[in-house]
Amino acid sequence: MRVPRPFNFFDGVLLMELVTDAHGDAAPRLNDVAFTPAQALQHHATLIGEVVRMLCAGVVHGDLSEFNILLAHIPGEGDQPGVDEPVIIDLPQAVDAAGNNHAQRMLLRDVGNLRDFLGNLPRVAPDRLRPRNLEPVPSRIAQPRDSAHGSF
Ligand SMILES: Nc1ncnc2c1ncn2[C@@H]1O[C@H](COP(=O)(O)OP(=O)(O)O)[C@@H](O)[C@H]1O
Ligand SMILES: [Mg+2]
Repeated sequence: MRVPRPFNFFDGVLLMELVTDAHGDAAPRLNDVAFTPAQALQHHATLIGEVVRMLCAGVVHGDLSEFNILLAHIPGEGDQPGVDEPVIIDLPQAVDAAGNNHAQRMLLRDVGNLRDFLGNLPRVAPDRLRPRNLEPVPSRIAQPRDSAHGSF
């Protein structure tokens, strides 16, 4: 999944990559950016995929929202235009998906936050982003390909 690259961890301090925008400045949070409906749907699909990848690694973020996702600019090769990609930050409260009694509630809240924020556009009805069949997640191992459908 896309997170800032860690450089060092010393005495409780984590030194990490600065996620940047197209000008090399600190990347904006999702909350700071206006999206077209198509962009919102694309970022939603990407982020649900990231949530599934975290689950595959046994982790629930626990505070996933538009305030803890940055929009990084990835420069294109040669003359190709670059792309903006979500990068997830702020993971200190992440919990063990299988071992924490609150994991399922936190997972549903994380997914609900993505739906509420990215579905809050005139032509992106939140219903389209409603996660289906989320409850059975802890009873089986999620697969990364589950992200293709946004339902798992
Ligand atoms: N790796 C990073 N690259 C660029 N900006 C970052 C990075 N990590 C954090 N930030 C910025 O710092 C803010 C606070 O960081 P965060 O990890 O969310 O801490 P907290 O919410 O606990 O204060 C973020 O909203 C973001 O704007
Ligand atoms: Mg934060």
